[in-house]
Amino acid sequence: MSVRSDRAQRYAHVTGWGRYAPAQVLTNRDLERMVDTDDEWIVQRTGIRERRVAAAHETTASMASVAALRAIRTAGIEPDDIDMILLATLTPDYWMPSTAALVKEAIGNTRAAAMDVAAACSGFVYAYATAQAYVTSGMARHVLVIGAELLTRFLDYSDRSTCILFGDGAGAVVLSAADEPGGGLGLELTTEPQGAYMIWLPAGGAKSPPSAETITRGEHYIRMEGRETYRFATRTLATTALAAIEDAGLSPSDIDLFIPHQANIRIIEAVAKGLDLPMDRMYVNLDRYGNTSAASVPIALAEAVNEGRVKVGDHVVIVAFGAGFTSGAVTIQWTADPARGIAGDAAVKPDDVQVRLPVDWDSVDPIPAALAEVMARPGPVDVPLDDVVPGEPEHAHLEVSE
Ligand code: UT7
Repeated sequence: MSVRSDRAQRYAHVTGWGRYAPAQVLTNRDLERMVDTDDEWIVQRTGIRERRVAAAHETTASMASVAALRAIRTAGIEPDDIDMILLATLTPDYWMPSTAALVKEAIGNTRAAAMDVAAACSGFVYAYATAQAYVTSGMARHVLVIGAELLTRFLDYSDRSTCILFGDGAGAVVLSAADEPGGGLGLELTTEPQGAYMIWLPAGGAKSPPSAETITRGEHYIRMEGRETYRFATRTLATTALAAIEDAGLSPSDIDLFIPHQANIRIIEAVAKGLDLPMDRMYVNLDRYGNTSAASVPIALAEAVNEGRVKVGDHVVIVAFGAGFTSGAVTIQWTADPARGIAGDAAVKPDDVQVRLPVDWDSVDPIPAALAEVMARPGPVDVPLDDVVPGEPEHAHLEVSE
């Protein structure tokens, strides 16, 4: 990407959206056989019933690439129309190169700048805000923003306080420049470093490089102070959303739908209460996916739009919180035809996208032993579209106009 000379102020509209969830389902009952937990506790304390688990051949880049190509098809553009790729993740395929670089090659883009964004569960909102800055400044015309996570390979399946929460998946949007008002209207991003060690992954970085000892100590798994994180989330999420709403010159009652980070139903209920809004303004799909970190907001946004929950002209707020502690929110005026998303999803099958692997290196089996049995079970070949849109024919193949 080279910096454009025409730097006229523009608006950044969502023109494309797509998501991908792996086929394998891990239920609360499955977890009962792994750790001392039960379905009732998990549902009551979190609202989660099941989550998706990536197959052995899948990676963060492969899931991200499917979601990304679906978003590009929904937008009705070509991969090479993308000027920049921003990929939010805390579970990159490698420390280097960036997962965004792998996605760029896999989707067939030859000209975009590509980089990862690290802001944990708030990562997609941070990446969205960055994309918006590039588009509204005139430096980019189309930016692909992805949130993708493969968390099930970073969980300790003997720690019941974390392993029940997280799942895998990817979501993406295309932000495009236009002179007509709409798109992102208001924004708020916060970081509170005093929460730095409330959710963290101790080893593998420069402070504690990977070694036999760090692995013996289980320091390559996600650790979390659940109650402190819960307090931060309930304290922060509503105020962050409110700041983004007021930044747009609106009030909470003007917002048609909130797309909150899907961490815990009780946290989402607290946001609704904090903003004095009914729960039907909050989109919820965590019962089916658990917490997919940076992927949670874009998966939820894509599903909400495809389910007909968003109309042209609606005001939508995306809002997230996560490790750091970070939080972020964007108020968006929706301008795209919501019907396009189903066609975009159907136009791209998972096998259509291949992430290139190194020729002279073979990784060890990536599936945690505790999950191996679940992974061996036969599952559906893809996420049925009628899961998302009741009445939609399964695997309907619809043409997307160019
Ligand atoms: O993207 C950001 C990621 N993080 C989050 O969003 C996490 C935010 N925090 C939470 O969602 C909640 O704090 C949790 C769901 C993690 C935990 O719920 P809680 O209501 O805060 O439970 P707690 O940690 O206070 O634990 C209550 C009890 C404890 O037993 P005792 O000490 O009262 O005997 C735990 O040991 O529940 C026990 N417990 C469990 N019991 C059955 C903890 N995990 C489990 C489990 N199954 N999976």
